[in-house]
Amino acid sequence: MRKKLFAANWKMNLTPAEARALLAAIRAALDPLAAKLARDREVMVAPAFPVLPAAAQALAGSSLALGAQNMHFEEKGAFTGEVSAAMLRAFGVSHVIVGHSERRHLFLESDEMVGKRAAAVVAAQMVPILCVGETADERDHGHTLAVVLRQLQAGLAGIPAEQARRVVIAYEPVWAIGTGRTATPEQAAIVHGAIRDALRDRFAAAADDLPILYGGSVTPDNVDSLMAKPDIDGALVGGASLKADSFARIAASGIA
Ligand code: PGA
Repeated sequence: MRKKLFAANWKMNLTPAEARALLAAIRAALDPLAAKLARDREVMVAPAFPVLPAAAQALAGSSLALGAQNMHFEEKGAFTGEVSAAMLRAFGVSHVIVGHSERRHLFLESDEMVGKRAAAVVAAQMVPILCVGETADERDHGHTLAVVLRQLQAGLAGIPAEQARRVVIAYEPVWAIGTGRTATPEQAAIVHGAIRDALRDRFAAAADDLPILYGGSVTPDNVDSLMAKPDIDGALVGGASLKADSFARIAASGIA
């Protein structure tokens, strides 16, 4: 059985002190549910890099995983503004978001670069959360699946088949991110099904063990209907992850 993943992407928000307070509140809501959550899912938070030490401390003794929002593919060197696998692992990071649409569109990360980052995360024994998704314009022109599958193929290019079970995919339509305009469960299900088929072509039976998350304006009000679809295995949550009650409610979808 594949495990679900409910992941908070805090983006460029929260100081260390604010993160500590938010994590205390999230833990107050989720720690009592730990045994139930562990049966079928993981819950993760991804703070900004300088907030990782405070978050790691605040998570001590909890079952919540610590994630990062990006990672460079080289081990070290002259890459101003980037961070390495060893730096992230030093704080207990287990998951790394790669290819988020804000990285692709605002910081011009190419499909190829995202693929290198994903492969480096796997090589460093962490889990990449590989984000894929089309813009509104691409959807309007009927290019949704072509774009998503191109990003998927390039993103997975450097990942050996025997490591497939280490990978998480997040389908995040760009037009749904931070807009309050979520994909309908039916729209998402079509793309998730196509991603699953492509994963089977690439990874054979292991494809059925990979979680495919949905991201883009996920809230406590829409999460249950999204999770009801067979190939939607959790969520990558931005805005709603900055409030303890809404993130806890999303992470406990189907349980509480
Ligand atoms: P959102 O962001 O939930 O605020 O739409 C999701 C994401 O960017 O991962």
